[in-house]
Amino acid sequence: MTQPDLSFLIDIARHAGQILRDMHRTKIDVQHKDVTDLVTAADKAAETFLLDEILSKFPSHSINSEESGKHEGDPNHKWYIDPLDGTLNYAHGMPMFSTSIGYALNGKLELGVIYDPLLDEMFSAQRGQGAFVNGKHLQVSKNQDLIDCLLVTSFKRKLLDTKQSNIDNFFRLSKLTQGVRRLGSAAINLAYVAAGRLDGYWDVTLSQWDAAAGILLVEEAGGVVTKMYGEPDPLNEPVSILAANPTIHSLILEELSALRKQAGW
Ligand code: IPD
Ligand code: CA
Ligand code: CA
Repeated sequence: MTQPDLSFLIDIARHAGQILRDMHRTKIDVQHKDVTDLVTAADKAAETFLLDEILSKFPSHSINSEESGKHEGDPNHKWYIDPLDGTLNYAHGMPMFSTSIGYALNGKLELGVIYDPLLDEMFSAQRGQGAFVNGKHLQVSKNQDLIDCLLVTSFKRKLLDTKQSNIDNFFRLSKLTQGVRRLGSAAINLAYVAAGRLDGYWDVTLSQWDAAAGILLVEEAGGVVTKMYGEPDPLNEPVSILAANPTIHSLILEELSALRKQAGW
């Protein structure tokens, strides 16, 4: 086998998720990558499992994985792995975390899975084949007016004193919609947009491993995903995200662009 199939990603994501679930709310080792950026023994255990599985089957592939960085290999086969997305939630004993695995062939995302082990929800997508949760077909929400929408975003502590703080965007879109959530897992945000549970998600900055699987899920569920200000190829660095159904995507984009213009940048 030179390339993976979706069932391989589903199997390894389920197993990695079991590792996370078993260690959740146990007294595990938490280290600081910086003041607010944490890594737990569970992030590392799940990542070690995933890398071993992938590299034993596909030793020549390249992998970009959060805790161990880039494994250089054949650039035509690229994996994007976040063993535990939502580490802050996890370290505080909160729910809302997931394992996210994306695979791109010749630069194009082909397979993606996001697994929430507490709810036992396996979100999966294959290019051209649709998006699913536990085998049930997914579709982005059909809402056409912002006032009917529930959105999600996130804030980065290091950006809070900069023009990218996202505070004005949050304030404006909170007024125009039913509300704006901050859930703490970028992968779950994207999976929930794909499932139509949330109507839209924007994020100022992310890493490739946070977004790869979720981008494919939203696209396969009929949504549009761009960078935050509408540029194409959201997975190209620097990664930022705007994901929603086509109408809501353009309505959010209008608001974000107007606020940026108003702020003079
Ligand atoms: C984080 C989460 C969070 C997002 C951050 C990510 P991690 O990932 O997805 O929602 O706002 O940008 O770094 O560190 O929990 O894997
Ligand atoms: Ca992450
Ligand atoms: Ca992570």
